Amino acid sequence: MQTFKTIKGLREALSAERAAGNTIGFVPTMGALHEGHLELMRRALRENDCLVVSIFVNPIQFNNKEDLEKYPRVLEEDSKILEDIGCQYLFAPDVDEMYPEPYKSEYDFGLLSEVMEAAFRPGHFNGVAIVVRKLFEIVEPTTAYFGEKDFQQLAVIQQLVKMFEMSVKIIPCSIVRENDGLAMSSRNVRLTAHERQLAPKIFQTLQKAKKLRNVLSPEELRRWTREELDAVEDFNIDYVEIAEDQQLQPFQHWNDASGAILFVALFLGKVRLIDNVRIF
Ligand code: PAJ
Repeated sequence: MQTFKTIKGLREALSAERAAGNTIGFVPTMGALHEGHLELMRRALRENDCLVVSIFVNPIQFNNKEDLEKYPRVLEEDSKILEDIGCQYLFAPDVDEMYPEPYKSEYDFGLLSEVMEAAFRPGHFNGVAIVVRKLFEIVEPTTAYFGEKDFQQLAVIQQLVKMFEMSVKIIPCSIVRENDGLAMSSRNVRLTAHERQLAPKIFQTLQKAKKLRNVLSPEELRRWTREELDAVEDFNIDYVEIAEDQQLQPFQHWNDASGAILFVALFLGKVRLIDNVRIF
């Protein structure tokens, strides 16, 4: 595997791949790699001639200083894992390389900018869009892979690609979970042993909620889910939402949506966790 800290170095290597007619699969990450990330990468490797992974803890998408400071950074370990799975290119720039000057772009993702993560983390998706657009311009991938764990992020990226008519193809990938159901996340290592024991309750509740679809209205199911989660003393809920699967807007009747997702975001101690399940 070749590791690049500079945009110029990576660009040169990738232009040789393109000249040879090779397709480029790309998985952008913030590192502290786990099986969730690796699933995306294995798929990218299967479907492309080469794989580029980026590891960059993007400061401008954090709206919480402590979250940014405490975000796990384990580049050496990550590097070994990437070697083992057969990744060809690692791009691991520092902040000055990505942002030599302050960035000012403001993106408007319409309805997607109004709900859930966008409402609770102001500026977050703008920061994500800025970095992903820049990474796409550097890597010029044939295909890029994103997890449904961050369902709203995936929707924002799909809209970004449409807005600027980018040629990259976006592939959504299912959520990878621990054996007890907890959605894998780089932030999970920050849970205390006690919190780690409580965390699977999130997915268990979402699973139960899914089964109540035929008995409860969307509003009743939102309330039921919120009450179940609220009953866990250490959970501090940001939101519980049921939304259609395109613009992620809440709706009142099951017939109003052609696909529906149940979303949750909550704090467990100091760690913010998100999860979602498709209801239909
Ligand atoms: P990060 O949280 O490192 O996630 C990188 C990619 O892995 C994202 O597409 C995310 O949805 C996916 N992923 C994380 N956990 C997953 C899981 N349990 N199952 C499936 N996929 C999972 O998301 C980001 O980084 C950043 O916002 C980024 C897109 C890199 C921009 O900075």
